[in-house]
Amino acid sequence: MSEQDPCTASTSSSPGVRRRCAVVGLGARARFFTEALAGPYADRIDLVGFCDVNAHRMSVHNGWITAEHPGREPVPAYAAEDFGLMLRRENVDLVVVCSVDRTHDDYLVQALEAGCDVVTEKPMTTDAERARRILDAQRRTGREVRVAFNYRYNPVHSAVRELIAAGEIGEVGSVHFEWLLDLRHGADYFRRWHRDKANSGGLMVHKSTHHFDLVNWWLGTRPETVYAQGGLFFYGDEAGRRRGLARPYTRAHGSPAADGDPFAVRLADSPVLSALYLDAEGEDGYHRDQNVFGPGVTIEDDMAVLVRYASGASLTYHLTAYAPWEGYRVCFNGSEGRLELLVEETTWVRPDVKAAAEGAAGPVMHGDAVGAEAGRTELLLRRFWERPREVKVASGEGGHGGGDIRMLADLFGPPAGEGADALGRAADAVDGARSLVTGLAANESFETGLPVRVRDVLDV
Ligand SMILES: NC(=O)c1ccc[n+]([C@@H]2O[C@H](COP(=O)([O-])OP(=O)(O)OC[C@H]3O[C@@H](n4cnc5c(N)ncnc54)[C@H](O)[C@@H]3O)[C@@H](O)[C@H]2O)c1
Repeated sequence: MSEQDPCTASTSSSPGVRRRCAVVGLGARARFFTEALAGPYADRIDLVGFCDVNAHRMSVHNGWITAEHPGREPVPAYAAEDFGLMLRRENVDLVVVCSVDRTHDDYLVQALEAGCDVVTEKPMTTDAERARRILDAQRRTGREVRVAFNYRYNPVHSAVRELIAAGEIGEVGSVHFEWLLDLRHGADYFRRWHRDKANSGGLMVHKSTHHFDLVNWWLGTRPETVYAQGGLFFYGDEAGRRRGLARPYTRAHGSPAADGDPFAVRLADSPVLSALYLDAEGEDGYHRDQNVFGPGVTIEDDMAVLVRYASGASLTYHLTAYAPWEGYRVCFNGSEGRLELLVEETTWVRPDVKAAAEGAAGPVMHGDAVGAEAGRTELLLRRFWERPREVKVASGEGGHGGGDIRMLADLFGPPAGEGADALGRAADAVDGARSLVTGLAANESFETGLPVRVRDVLDV
């Protein structure tokens, strides 16, 4: 294929066709994909390009890959402005987007227009205008967009979908959903680029896109009206000063004032964090260890949302980013009973700084539960006039309750054949947009104090 004619016409469902894949955004999350592509999926997919604004981070990923696969050549690395050149020169036909959220749309649109299929990390993008660009490009080009909603593949979430679809609780009238982020994981959003709403859309978009997607998928519906209240209650300079938690430093590295601060991450204590961020700072000045009680936080940490769906069901949802444990409760009230799910991903958080840094370098970066501290998962079916019945679901190995491994197989494995995805777990651009729009409407409602009609934000 010539340099002017980049992408082939293969799709993920073309059996026997080797694909040529590039990854854009080589930070922490990208490792999940690069390990899979250079390892178990290397027999089907060639990893042919890396693209990032930071050359050091790309070289770190190449170091990991070549160490794990001796004899393998490093993956060609391209600067962000050479994305189009990479697609052409490396004959890319599949792009995995793992960059900072606000940049996803540019790569998605360029890749689709070049004839590639795209797998994008969540959130698909950060605002309605960008979502419209992606939806238009997808429709125009007819290429495939897959949004990496790994939680759909968690076996216990699949069980919820099956129980509801089988009518075990009848018609769903309402959902009550509370999600807690603990003091380690929750705080991390206030140390990094996510703390600026322009980068992430705030936690309503960056984080809750997972949860709003689950509700859309579980109920098979879409949001129509959203009312929300949210604010910065715990993190940020003002709250930190008021509670005496603030310390006088901008970033932890090299700051004696951060010594002993349980909210500080010490990049130098973790080989992975040092390699990916500390050693890469010279190129872009990005500090991954900012003070969670410092100035410049424009996202919320405590959010309450009320949603009405097209099906008639309602949702009460709460996200808290400063909890002593991590996990969620979700309860479905139906015309024939109630379904209750409790997942404790961690039961408590250690205060010592070393553990926080190592945690961030390991499991938390992969979005995993933390082994020794992980708690229970309980799914209870309470049908009217019957004793409660616990539904046993084999716990999934690996990140996101086993969702990560299963999603990789669906994204990169052999085509599973007609009817194999009976639960409809594969999320496309419309699913990505529908999961976003609840958070976008909630952000608007935070500002105005009024309910928001979803179709006025994004008609999808
Ligand atoms: N599904 C999940 O469970 C999950 C978990 C973690 C992260 N994520 C998603 O993965 C993505 C990356 O998150 P992360 O934690 O790896 O962040 P990160 O900061 O570790 O990595 C982001 C990377 O993007 C690069 N980048 C920044 N601007 C860019 C640009 N204009 N062009 C190209 N590259 C650019 C950075 O240099 C960095 O290498 C985010 O969209 C996040 O939401 C998803």
